[in-house]
Order: sequence, then C-alpha cells, then structure tokens
Amino acid sequence: MTSDNNIQSVVQWTKNKALHLGFMVLAGLTVMVSLIPFVRSWLPSSATKLTEASVRADISQLMPGQMMTLVWQGKPVWVLRRTQAMIAALKNANPQLRDPHSELSVQPSSAQNDARSIHEEYFVVLGKCTHMGCIPVYQPNSGFLCPCHGSKFDLAGRVLKGAPAPKNLIVPPYHFSVDGKSLIIGEVK
Ligand code: FES
Repeated sequence: MTSDNNIQSVVQWTKNKALHLGFMVLAGLTVMVSLIPFVRSWLPSSATKLTEASVRADISQLMPGQMMTLVWQGKPVWVLRRTQAMIAALKNANPQLRDPHSELSVQPSSAQNDARSIHEEYFVVLGKCTHMGCIPVYQPNSGFLCPCHGSKFDLAGRVLKGAPAPKNLIVPPYHFSVDGKSLIIGEVK
C-alpha cells in the first residue's frame, strides 16, 4: 500500500514537473517571438546603411570665399565656394604643379579638369594630405599648406613640386541635388 502510494506520488510529481517545464518553454518562446519586431527595429536598415555611406549637406548659405567642413566616413571633407578671382587663377598655367592635369591623382572623372570639380565654383576635397595624412591649413590667397612637412597645394588641391606629398588632394565622389542647394558626398550620379 505504502509502496503503491509512493509510486503514484512519484508519477504525479513527474507529470507536474513536465507540465511546468512545458509551460516555461512556451512562455520563453512567446517572449522571443514578441521581441522580434523590436530587435529588427534596432538593426540598421538598408536605407540607414546608404545614409551612412553618403552625407548630404546644405550649401545654399555658403558665401564666396567660405569653406565648410563635413565628415564623411570618418574623414574631413572640405567644401570651398571659390570666388571668381580664385577660379580665374586656376586657369593660369602653373609650371610649379607636379600633376597639373591630375592624371596621377584620385578624383571622379567628372572632376578631372583645371578646377578639379563638377561645378568650378564649388571645390569638394578630402582634407587629408596625400603624404602622411595630416590636415592641411586653408590659405585663401594660395591654397592649402600642410603643417607637417610643408606640402603646398593650390586652390584645386594640386600639389606643388618639391613637396613630399606625391599626389594632389583626393576629390571624393559627389554630386549636387537637382535644385543645386545640396551636395551629396559619397555618390556619383
Ligand atoms: S603629411 Fe603633409 S607634408 Fe607630410
């Protein structure tokens, strides 16, 4: 009698335990399923990735002679709105330039010209020296001077001979919005 009771108790305890375990598993699954939409919302969508790959900037307030700095992929990008005098100076042949036609340098094909830009008024360039990556200083009358080892660049980022920088400053891919008020860096059209 006692032995039968013990066996029944053990069977009942096992059933209860199995039911309890089943309930816990079900509850856990329910919680996981309900979290899926939230987890999805934390993951970057393809639109976000596209945004991270490119930067959009309003250039409508940039005055002639002014330069703004943006950050694209962790690197400084300068947008210089050149004056008419600056543009005219770029058209004069300068025998001091190492790579005057930017044949050895990096830029989109649409910016391989004397001004090294799609629209000659707006110069878009990576603010990093092509020697060892220092940040050059903007000099409105002449161009850019790298403080580290003295490389000089004109107002189109073309390096002057005798400098350690081997190439012109890098022009990143970019294009203008349809209304011309914004610049999109990181994409060519
Ligand atoms: S890093 Fe610019 S000249 Fe060396």
